[in-house]
Amino acid sequence: MQNNKRPEDMARIVNAELAEKFIGEQVEAVKKQVGDKKVLLALSGGVDSSVVAALLIKAIGKNLVCVHVNHGILRKGEPEQVVEVFRNQMNANLVYVDAVDRFFNKLENVADPETKRKIIGAEFIRVFEEEARKQDGIEFLAQGTIYPDILESGPVKAHHNVGGLPEDLKFELVEPLKFLFKDEVRVVGKALGLPDSMVYRQPFPGPGLGVRCLGAITRDRLEAVRESDAILREEFAKNGLEGKVWQYFTVVPDFKSVGVKDGKRTFEYPVIIRAVNTTDAMSATVEDVPFALLQHITARITGEVKGVNRVLYDLTPKPCGTIEWE
Ligand code: XMP
Repeated sequence: MQNNKRPEDMARIVNAELAEKFIGEQVEAVKKQVGDKKVLLALSGGVDSSVVAALLIKAIGKNLVCVHVNHGILRKGEPEQVVEVFRNQMNANLVYVDAVDRFFNKLENVADPETKRKIIGAEFIRVFEEEARKQDGIEFLAQGTIYPDILESGPVKAHHNVGGLPEDLKFELVEPLKFLFKDEVRVVGKALGLPDSMVYRQPFPGPGLGVRCLGAITRDRLEAVRESDAILREEFAKNGLEGKVWQYFTVVPDFKSVGVKDGKRTFEYPVIIRAVNTTDAMSATVEDVPFALLQHITARITGEVKGVNRVLYDLTPKPCGTIEWE
């Protein structure tokens, strides 16, 4: 039975010095736990899995096998960043799986949000399982479990309610971050040399852009979500809103509206911008984005993103709207 209670005397990791101490202790603990055996990790490129990867690379080097599944619903540049940071800079043992078509085929014509979530989760497990079976001698599974995951939902990450690996692939768990809160994970990630764009990134749902391309996902609307999201992030960063606004993204619904461009009638998709602040995601307020910036972003999105002729700003707090649209 694993101990899942944070020790009462554990100091909060608030600076580089405490992070270094934590890293040293965890490197030793991981070495002791796994010896010269191999450890498997699903590396999404999110904060938690990235910090676990960097920590375990320090502890056991190439005996950590990182599997990055590109399911096609990641944000622009994310799969490339995982390869650049972990394979090129940290010399990790990284298996990159291009599962874009596979996920797309599974999701074709599926419009119900919860069914989409289930398919994405289940397909992810299937792809990961296939990769796990290709690896010899794996005895451990590393996970980016953090303390709020334990407090909220037992040992399984919140929202990851799609089952898990089959019995014969039940490895012993390695969870070096399981007593840390998110802000502490970021301090540790920084101390491990991960880039700020990875360490300080805003929350991103497991089902990724899949729940922001509303209804049945199509390739053209998914590209419109990805490209408009990239423009929004770039403009928020340029204008000092990155790191200040809790979560911001774009959504593309599955209907078109009439517009006009170069004197010709268009019939294209709208893009909805959402930017909210919250402490616990249970309730949220809308960011008061300067109107001139919204106008500038609108001009960029309608000018640069294919198939889009309109931009809207979502003014709904939570409640009564949720943060995501699906
Ligand atoms: P809602 O939309 O419920 O979102 O107000 C609250 C927070 O949870 C994130 N979210 C998810 N995260 N899997 C996840 O890992 C999901 O299925 C999921 N749905 C919502 C959302 O981005 C927000 O931060």
